[in-house]
Amino acid sequence: MAESILIDTAAPKALKYEQLLPQIEALVGDDRHPVAVLANVVAALQQGFHFLWTGFYLVEGDELVLGPFQGPVACMRIARGKGVCGTAWDRGESILVPDVDRFPGHIACSSESRSEIVVPLKDGNNHVRGVLDIDSASLNNFDECDRENLEKLCNWLGELLF
Ligand code: SME
Repeated sequence: MAESILIDTAAPKALKYEQLLPQIEALVGDDRHPVAVLANVVAALQQGFHFLWTGFYLVEGDELVLGPFQGPVACMRIARGKGVCGTAWDRGESILVPDVDRFPGHIACSSESRSEIVVPLKDGNNHVRGVLDIDSASLNNFDECDRENLEKLCNWLGELLF
């Protein structure tokens, strides 16, 4: 049986990440199956934060393909350099978007999305193998605290899985 995630949803977000990340590591244990691991990572983030959309896109050839996610249906393929996700892949770095309407080329999978953060998943050779994309229905929902903690999570996942 899977362990449950215990999180104080009313706590400040820095504390929520502090509670969540070790629980995700414990939940994953010694499993290395990308779909199983990433699906549970998405579920754990959603249990803690209730974002509008949380999911992974994985690199296949010259595009990103939709992976495990929770939230409304989303576009299934994104070309390198397109949208926030394809740009984060191309640059090999995280992108914080306080207002999606001000990001040229933003791909609107949901009309409710107002702000977004995308963090690359890199393998041990520093190659981007996918991205974590999180959308919020509120403007300015993400900050350096999210970037720092989600990068920590994705750095760990990238090395673990690829
Ligand atoms: N907004 C993203 C597309 C993915 S959806 O938000 C789930 C982008 O511009 O790349």
